[in-house]
Amino acid sequence: MLFDPRPKTRRQDLFDREEELEAFKRYIEERAPLVLLLGLRRTGKTSLLLTGLNEIHVDYIFVDLRILEEKMPVTRRDIIVLLERAIADFMRRTSFRKKLTKYLERVEGLSVAGLEVKVSWRTKPYYFISELFMELNSWAEDTGRHLVVAFDEAQEFARTYRVELDRILAYVYDHMRNVTVVLTGSKIGLLYRFLKIGDPKAPLYGRAFLEIKLGYFTQEMSLEFLRRGFEEHGVRVNENTLNYVVSLLNGVPGWLALYGYYAINYGVSDEVLDKVLREASATALSELEHFLEIRPQARRRYLTILKYLASVSGAKWSEVKRYLEAEEGVRIDDKNFSTLLKNLVDSGFIEKSDIGYRVPDPVLKYALRRKVS
Ligand SMILES: Nc1ncnc2c1ncn2[C@@H]1O[C@H](COP(=O)(O)OP(=O)(O)O)[C@@H](O)[C@H]1O
Ligand SMILES: [Mg+2]
Repeated sequence: MLFDPRPKTRRQDLFDREEELEAFKRYIEERAPLVLLLGLRRTGKTSLLLTGLNEIHVDYIFVDLRILEEKMPVTRRDIIVLLERAIADFMRRTSFRKKLTKYLERVEGLSVAGLEVKVSWRTKPYYFISELFMELNSWAEDTGRHLVVAFDEAQEFARTYRVELDRILAYVYDHMRNVTVVLTGSKIGLLYRFLKIGDPKAPLYGRAFLEIKLGYFTQEMSLEFLRRGFEEHGVRVNENTLNYVVSLLNGVPGWLALYGYYAINYGVSDEVLDKVLREASATALSELEHFLEIRPQARRRYLTILKYLASVSGAKWSEVKRYLEAEEGVRIDDKNFSTLLKNLVDSGFIEKSDIGYRVPDPVLKYALRRKVS
């Protein structure tokens, strides 16, 4: 169902990601040590990940770090709860539960009772995760299996207290032949920063990894996505309406699916489109709010830049800088200004394109134009 608002788990429900899906499955089947799945928010990373893993019937642990985005600060307890959930979910799905339990119970601080998984709150995440990987790899080796450990929205790890996941990943990379790690990231720059790509002193330095990037749909694909989804539900929608919807939600799989979902349930109307824009705007702004919350000193500056970029189709570095200086009535140091732009790019709120810096998400753009403060 194209318009089901949840992440997809079946190929039939994925629209136009054939090539990426095949590449992803191939990488996993080849047992690549490290695979990155990148793309802005709502481009379908989680959908591709789950669909791919389910199709090849590989054992996988799925760690959902997205919830951490809303936490400030991220505590040790938060990490532990996430891991408990991820392990319990894996136990529920695997057909080798008994044997797996034996290995898991060797991890200090971890106890299993039936399908319940408890991790002691005194556990230090770094040691716990290292040991966990060790036992999981032994389990995979001894049973001749291949295990995928996926960290969804992995950059959120960067905000946690001394987990040093990059160090663990380097160890897994070098020594655990039966484990593939997949990292997804909506904030691509932040994920690269977290992994310290290109830094000779970084744990992961010099280790080759494979990457898949998911982009937005083109305008034609967006229209086709809506046509196909409505057809699936036997709903007829005229082309003018579709063109109008696409002009507002252009390219973002998640927003298009949300629109389709409401439209098939409430009927196609201006009110429904309004509802989608309202809800989607609120979501996009709340994600922005999390970004601003951890950077309170520069909040006003970030908002000035974003509101400006939302009012134009694109602007050069110097144009944005001039605008910000005029608004504030002060000169701003080049380096400081570059850092502001870089942080926005790295978090996926703006991007650099051939027409300069721009806000890629049409809904965030719409919301920023209406935002008062
Ligand atoms: N290729 C696709 N075909 C159909 N719907 C999709 C596709 N990719 C994403 N979606 C829809 O968009 C929403 C957001 O996708 P998701 O996989 O959660 O994106 P991400 O993980 O990149 O944020 C999903 O709930 C799903 O319904
Ligand atoms: Mg996701």
